[in-house]
Amino acid sequence: MGAETPRSGPIHPRLLAMMMAGRYYGLELDPAEYRGEGGDRVPTAAALSTWAQGAGMWSRAVRLRWRHLMGFHETGPVVLLFTDGTAGLLTGASAEHKIVMVRDPRAPEADPPVQVDEMRLAEVWNGEAILLRAQRGHADAEPPFSLRWLFGLVALEGKGLRDLFIGSVALSFLTIFPALIVMTVIDKVLTHHSYSTLMLVSIILAIMILYETLLGHARRLIILVIGVRIDAKINLHVFNRLIRLPLDYFERHPAGETMYKITSVHTVRQFITGKLMATLLDLITLAVLAPFLFWLNATLAWIVVVCAALIMLIILAYLRPIRVIYGRVLVAETNKSAALGETIFGIKTVKSLALEPQRKSLWDERVAEAGKWRLAMGRLSNWPQTLVTPIERFMWVGIVMIGAYMSLADETGIAVGGLFAFMMLSQRVSAPLVSLARLIEEWEEVGGAMGQAADVLNQPLEIDNAGTGVRPKFAGAVAFEDVTFTYPGTKLPALNKITFEIPAGTMLGLVGRSGSGKSTVTRLLQGINREYSGFVKIDGADLRAINLRHLRSSFGVVLQENFLFRGSIRDNILAGRPGLTMEDAIRAARLAGAEEFIERMPAGYETYIEEGSPNLSGGQRQRLAIARAVITDPRILILDEATSALDPESEALVNANLLRIARGRTMLIVSHRLSSLVDCDLIMVLDKAQLLDIAPHDVLLERCSVYRQLWAQQNRHLDKPGARNAASS
Ligand SMILES: Nc1ncnc2c1ncn2[C@@H]1O[C@H](COP(=O)(O)OP(=O)(O)OP(=O)(O)O)[C@@H](O)[C@H]1O
Ligand SMILES: [Mg+2]
Repeated sequence: MGAETPRSGPIHPRLLAMMMAGRYYGLELDPAEYRGEGGDRVPTAAALSTWAQGAGMWSRAVRLRWRHLMGFHETGPVVLLFTDGTAGLLTGASAEHKIVMVRDPRAPEADPPVQVDEMRLAEVWNGEAILLRAQRGHADAEPPFSLRWLFGLVALEGKGLRDLFIGSVALSFLTIFPALIVMTVIDKVLTHHSYSTLMLVSIILAIMILYETLLGHARRLIILVIGVRIDAKINLHVFNRLIRLPLDYFERHPAGETMYKITSVHTVRQFITGKLMATLLDLITLAVLAPFLFWLNATLAWIVVVCAALIMLIILAYLRPIRVIYGRVLVAETNKSAALGETIFGIKTVKSLALEPQRKSLWDERVAEAGKWRLAMGRLSNWPQTLVTPIERFMWVGIVMIGAYMSLADETGIAVGGLFAFMMLSQRVSAPLVSLARLIEEWEEVGGAMGQAADVLNQPLEIDNAGTGVRPKFAGAVAFEDVTFTYPGTKLPALNKITFEIPAGTMLGLVGRSGSGKSTVTRLLQGINREYSGFVKIDGADLRAINLRHLRSSFGVVLQENFLFRGSIRDNILAGRPGLTMEDAIRAARLAGAEEFIERMPAGYETYIEEGSPNLSGGQRQRLAIARAVITDPRILILDEATSALDPESEALVNANLLRIARGRTMLIVSHRLSSLVDCDLIMVLDKAQLLDIAPHDVLLERCSVYRQLWAQQNRHLDKPGARNAASS
């Protein structure tokens, strides 16, 4: 199988073994993508399995024993790493005959595997192995974002929760004692004037207070730790989903709105580990204390229960209207957030067009709207509060009065001490009941927040087939077959029955009036929009069947506006891609014509770029973007009006490099300046979503009237002041 054309020397047997195993699962591992520790060192298990993972397989480096191998008789191949630095492919095992079947990756494929027994294997193998499997599309296995999922996260914190439960039960019992002691003090100490009892009671009381303090401290700490841990998990999950949403989603929703919506996840989390947990814990207290209250005095206990029930009823009655208003509040807040986000992201435009007053009045409007609904909501929810207060106070004071009356009317009734104890405890019972009702009220808010977050996070993910799809090695031939595409929400197609075909290595120019569909062609090719009819093919493979991440990483894309991240120039060119070095960055910069200005910078490649790259000129930014795009040596490079924002000089510089960049790869260049496309192998003319013609420049000038017209238009302009530019490209 060494027939693969190796780039430099023969492929290492360990890589060969991995490639054979990959092929078993229908995956072509590319030795050029293997990132080992460099040199001619023997590939390690970790590096090999990272390589396979990078290609979209499930892979683990493990240590196995002979008896483990016996279990592999029906599963796929396992790569065994031998002590001499080579490797073998375990293709089968027979526990009956005590042998395993091992294949030498260097042997011709027709050769049968060698049968090896335990003794012979032990001579060359010390247990190192790599397990491989085709990755299942894990997106559908991932649970949707929901309350259930959140509760599941909380439930995972089993140990903390158990401690919390134990602590709370202990605390509940502790709360009974002060009441009991007060009862004793009043009944015994005061009536019998016993100093020694008072002393004892004081000591016990002090110890109780100490215990309660410590337990309370521990309880809050546990809640805190659980909260932080869950928050971290939520953050990871949320970002992971967000980043896998299709570009389409971000184009249709303002960034501020998305940010507001996903932060509401934390409202939900806070509710669960805050109010909800506290109330549930209080309910434990309730369960412990209620029987005790009834034991003290049943009549008074019933009064407490009835009052609490009344409070709950009042709160529940307001539930529906509050829910309605809360919906309005949410909408208003989202709009407000969207306005803020838009202003910040578009601040350059706002400032340069002096749009501050307009943005400000929009903001004022949104703030006023949000304020209005918040006020309305506050007003409404003030009512249940108001209605509940007298009942709550009655539970506190009224019970004392009734109790006092009872003890006056009937000597066998409740004693003064008991009355005090009852007063102390009745609050602890009514409080959880009331907060339970409040909880239901808040539940509405949480439901709303949850809906907001789910609205973003439960959108269909883009890379649903993250691990699926073929990963062919691209040469770069592109074909469109009868492709028709309409953007969602629009009526007219952006592309109408487009058919063309270009061989690998073509430099293709795309021209046409604004809105004719040029960018759309490049978007379909990158798999950004996938709901087209017809076929888009790369090297004859249907685009839909190609693994999306693989597809995108085979592309280099430079747009008119490119986002540079905060960091050094070097970081921006490398963009955190693994396995790339400074030399790669320099090579890419040279290819993009960026080397010249980078070296003139004070700190060279370490020059720091701020957000929005204010310290770079447009031309410099563009050349950096080109360097960033070509560093991976992509088979297909897309330049969508990459040079249209540049001054003639920078454009000439970039264009001069284009021919060099184009060598050995397919290029799609969208440009409004036809003069920069003259050198293209083919130029495609689009008009109103249709393909008018595709041919070299000279041919188009002869036979395509639209192209001739565009050319004439531009050259008329260029004849006068910009002629130098036309000549230079
Ligand atoms: N994200 C989108 N959502 C809806 N419609 C879109 C979207 N992008 C483009 N369109 C529409 O599709 C049509 C083709 O747009 P496209 O961006 O491909 O044109 P273009 O040839 O690149 O134009 P330009 O030269 O101005 O960049 C246009 O009518 C445009 O309004
Ligand atoms: Mg465009």
